[in-house]
Amino acid sequence: MQMTDLIAKKRDGGRLSGQEIDFMVQGYTRGEIPDYQMSAMCMAILFRGMDDQETLDLTMSMVHSGQTIDLSPIQGLKADKHSTGGVGDKTSLVLCPMVAACGLKIAKMSGRGLGHTGGTIDKLESFPGFSVDISEERFFQNVNDIGIAVIGQTADLVPADKKLYALRDVTGTVPSIPLIVSSIMSKKLASGSDIIVLDVKCGSGAFMKTPEAARELARGLTRIGRLAQRRCAAVITDMDQPLGFAVGNALEVKEAISVLKGEQRGDLLELCLTLGGLMLTEAGMAADMEAAQARLLEAVKDGSALEKLAQMVRAQGGDAAPVYEPALLPQAPVVLEVRADRAGYVERIQAEQVGLVSMHLGGGRVNKESSIDLSVGVVLDKKVGDRVAPGDRLAVLHAPSAEKAREAAEQLKACFRFSDSPVPARPFIIDIVR
Ligand code: URA
Repeated sequence: MQMTDLIAKKRDGGRLSGQEIDFMVQGYTRGEIPDYQMSAMCMAILFRGMDDQETLDLTMSMVHSGQTIDLSPIQGLKADKHSTGGVGDKTSLVLCPMVAACGLKIAKMSGRGLGHTGGTIDKLESFPGFSVDISEERFFQNVNDIGIAVIGQTADLVPADKKLYALRDVTGTVPSIPLIVSSIMSKKLASGSDIIVLDVKCGSGAFMKTPEAARELARGLTRIGRLAQRRCAAVITDMDQPLGFAVGNALEVKEAISVLKGEQRGDLLELCLTLGGLMLTEAGMAADMEAAQARLLEAVKDGSALEKLAQMVRAQGGDAAPVYEPALLPQAPVVLEVRADRAGYVERIQAEQVGLVSMHLGGGRVNKESSIDLSVGVVLDKKVGDRVAPGDRLAVLHAPSAEKAREAAEQLKACFRFSDSPVPARPFIIDIVR
């Protein structure tokens, strides 16, 4: 088999067989197929597309390029979630304890943040002593005992995706639906859960700019999940502002705790109820979304969701005291209020830019090796649609120094776009794809 023949076949609109796809994926992972040939193939796939069988073959070949996790030592169904990328996205911190409190198992593999996006592991490390560096046996044991555990991503999980994603990033081939689907689903399938729910972000700051494009991606993801024998559903959500109010590691943990305590409603709770509702209904633990959401809300009301977070933190070596006393979380030395210069209605808050403000304050990694400051970030006061008068507080910055705070204040103001007339309300949950 020759890679040049496979490139020509796809370029001319042909379909690749499972064997051909495996030859290409394993050869590329082993370094036998050079970057320039794989780049040409990615571009041919971007223009010609792939049918479901090709996309499934590509996904499964990527799964088998490295280690996979066998969750069978854990009794019962296991659920997992994925988001296509958001700023201020602390969904897992709220959703996972809520769902686990309802009796569905969560065996989650998470990553660290890079650039303007945060990672669940960094956020959880705001609890002193908390570690995701636990053995597989302890991970399984914790899920069996308390229903929830988080472990760091193993280095050898889908090595084909690490190489391919880096290549796509520099060859203009990221926005191809079959390539995105195989990239996301290979990692989820290799992580072993039975139920996978996906949050597909839509809007100017997301991969998918329009609801139609987001729907196409969501359908592709759920189809491949089901063809791979998993229960799978997706939510399409609007991303024209950060999720919730806080951006920054410990600040996001604090916000997650207040949602789990039932003190905060809004987009973050709505998303967790929707994703959690899909998990419970896919697991057959609730008859419909309404019943599932009532159960999730009950777990918030009776305190069991918050207690589940505390149990998980303790079981992984952490001090759970901040769950009950969030003032014990890391605190930045400087706090600065950012106020509006003009009157108007908030039309947009550029999420990616807010993520960069938090990163420049020290809350995000510039490269994989950088260390981060868990205490810093931004807490918004205003969200899209809110009316502001000159001098109203837009946000509060948590910074390592007064100088950094002043710089960040200017950058943060530039993230807000105002309109003179009221901004019509837009639904946050655009669609559900099952
Ligand atoms: N997220 C991924 O993991 N892969 C993609 O290709 C796009 C988003």
